[in-house]
Amino acid sequence: MNYLWSGRFRKELHELAKSFTFSIDIDKSLALFDISGSIVHAMMLTRQKIIPERDGKKIVSGLKKIENEIKSGKFVFKTEDEDIHTAVERRLVELIGPAGGKLHTARSRNDQIVLDEKLCLKQILPDIVTAITFLQKTLIVRAEENLKIFLPAFTHFQPAQPVLLSHYFLAYVCMLERDKKRIKEALTRINISPLGACACTGTSFSVDPEYVAKKLGFEDVFNNSMDAVSDRDFILETVCCLGILMVHLSRMAEDLILWHSPLIGFVDLPEEFCTGSSIMPQKKNPDVLELIRGRTSAVIGNIAGVFSLMKGLPLSYNRDMQEDKRFLFETCEISYLSTVIIGKIIEKTRMDPRRMSEACKLGYIEATDIAEFLARKGVPFRKAHHIVAELVGTAAKKGVLLKDLDEKTIKEISGNNDIIEFIKKLNFEKSINLKVSHGGTGVKEVKRELKKWKNILN
Ligand code: ARG
Repeated sequence: MNYLWSGRFRKELHELAKSFTFSIDIDKSLALFDISGSIVHAMMLTRQKIIPERDGKKIVSGLKKIENEIKSGKFVFKTEDEDIHTAVERRLVELIGPAGGKLHTARSRNDQIVLDEKLCLKQILPDIVTAITFLQKTLIVRAEENLKIFLPAFTHFQPAQPVLLSHYFLAYVCMLERDKKRIKEALTRINISPLGACACTGTSFSVDPEYVAKKLGFEDVFNNSMDAVSDRDFILETVCCLGILMVHLSRMAEDLILWHSPLIGFVDLPEEFCTGSSIMPQKKNPDVLELIRGRTSAVIGNIAGVFSLMKGLPLSYNRDMQEDKRFLFETCEISYLSTVIIGKIIEKTRMDPRRMSEACKLGYIEATDIAEFLARKGVPFRKAHHIVAELVGTAAKKGVLLKDLDEKTIKEISGNNDIIEFIKKLNFEKSINLKVSHGGTGVKEVKRELKKWKNILN
């Protein structure tokens, strides 16, 4: 069989070597990016008079035909198509004859594959950013609806202090904003065209990498040809950014999974995103969220995959790098879908404010407010902490709430009169509004935050 590279070979590539090395199954998804890169490369070759204008025109119109074949699903891949670059060039020669063989002048698959991957990420990452913005907006809507709803905030998954549900949602808005910033920052480095680096040293032809970069929408051109073909930092960065995003989504999924359990019952997940059990008729399982959490493992594995792929490679291109795509593509797909899906789940989840406020009665979550009250009255905080801990211990032993402790006991333990009134009058809304500090759960602060986010996101 005739491969792009088989001129010096006398023996056929072993069937096993062939199926082991061919990457077409994975990189055919880069087809349209490969073709747009090739069209601009052919235009540059013509402009620079590296190939005759007549051939340049033929090549461009042949490539456009191939583009249509790919888009309409009519392109037929053949057994000798080693990768997407080979497939497109093979078809080009079939369509326009030997002039097609001029397309690869002053180019190598080594700079070509980096170009394709970068073009692909320049499309996918902004889509992921858009999906994140949509999710943030959904969270903002839910935050605005729930300004009066409170629930226990947890630390160590133990009831900690009362918090507004809105504040909870806004916490995820903050995380997602960092994710977007990280992705946008990574895009600035993706935005550097590698085309013109050729195999690894540049070329004897007078190519114009600036022209190619500009036409393809890149902001800058590579500096060093060896770096350009061997750089996969942009993939390492992308999977890291998406890995952090997925960790956030996975934690959000985990919160909702727990909250949907009848044991907690804070939310009722939308039926469209739950499944049942084949044996237990009562079940309404949060499988979709569980799979977001589960697939985060694949993404974390992919981060380890690309890092270990790169760490021992000598300069410059090595075939190992072909494997980066399986890690990258899977990571992008999981991240995009998970972001979209969790947005739809949040949008449709029913909150149960009654269960949330009932839960506030468990675990003495107003204790810190009482300690802070004493501290405001001049009791050293450490002592105040001790006093309230004793009150909690006594209440727990008696099986009552703090406000139901008798006045005598409170006075005995605290040695303070004012505290009685404070404890008796304390409720969860009050506790929340005692939080006046920056970024806290006090309604005023939360409303300020909400307003800020609405400005940022609109
Ligand atoms: N398919 C390769 C990759 O994805 C690109 C081809 C480079 N091959 C080569 N033998 N230099 O990295």
